[in-house]
Amino acid sequence: MLALTDCSHLHPGAAPDRFALRSVSLSIEAGEQVAIIGPSGAGKTSLIHLLALAMRPTRGDLLFGGACPWGQSGRQRHGLRSTLLLVPQVPPLPPRQRVVTSLMAARLPAMSLLRSLASLFYPLDIPAAHQALCAFDLEEKLFERVDRLSGGERQRVGLARCLMTRAQLWLLDEPLSALDPVKARAALATVLSAAEAANATLVVSLHQVDLALAHFPRIIGLRDGEVVFDVRRQDLRDNQVAALYNGETASPEASADPWPEESLIPVTGCR
Ligand SMILES: Nc1ncnc2c1ncn2[C@@H]1O[C@H](COP(=O)(O)OP(=O)(O)OP(=O)(O)O)[C@@H](O)[C@H]1O
Ligand SMILES: [Mg+2]
Repeated sequence: MLALTDCSHLHPGAAPDRFALRSVSLSIEAGEQVAIIGPSGAGKTSLIHLLALAMRPTRGDLLFGGACPWGQSGRQRHGLRSTLLLVPQVPPLPPRQRVVTSLMAARLPAMSLLRSLASLFYPLDIPAAHQALCAFDLEEKLFERVDRLSGGERQRVGLARCLMTRAQLWLLDEPLSALDPVKARAALATVLSAAEAANATLVVSLHQVDLALAHFPRIIGLRDGEVVFDVRRQDLRDNQVAALYNGETASPEASADPWPEESLIPVTGCR
């Protein structure tokens, strides 16, 4: 479905040596569920935006469904974009938009121009929007203004769009960052089972490493714009995860204890 070959990305205006992504090569098959983990600034959002065709790699090749989007016309690329759903890390917040309208926006790419214009004035599938909100425990917010929601509620409205979309590729950038641990687990479970039911490909960047390891069959570790590992969950060693965040290179041997005693902060002053 997606293939990056030797892709690097330098954001416009960034210093010439500050590549957000460096020689990234990976492919993602239809129906896969992939978690991207890595420290802040590792390049997770940049990678997700590259996969969403929101920005062109500075170097390297990207194939999307076998096509080369950046060699195509803007119109063709727009057509490809309509086959994916991007739930951004920082959701855009159109002033005074209602939750129901925000949810219906996930359907717009699959609608004719006439129907999408009509839906701006009257949301066309209110029952579906209501059902999507129920799945995230937000049914009472259907006609609420998006800018009057809490951060966590807004994030769950973004996730509820997965239940509305007809897209076959879902790209979610840190979708749980504003949720408490219980709600995060429940929201992730809902998204995972919805993706499976829709046979959609799911790529999610996460800071909750425990959730990534517990629920995703494939884990990609990014640091300083580079893929440090890209493995099946069962092949990932604890010391590789610890090293990813500590900025080290994992030793080849399996580590029995990724958090050795000497790295623990001693409890003092209790005598
Ligand atoms: N629009 C931009 N212009 C210039 N540099 C950028 C821009 N966006 C990101 N960067 C830089 O690119 C690098 C990767 O950023 P990115 O947002 O992809 O990281 P991230 O892994 O998503 O981080 P976080 O976990 O904090 O969201 C960082 O060094 C960042 O400063
Ligand atoms: Mg990010």
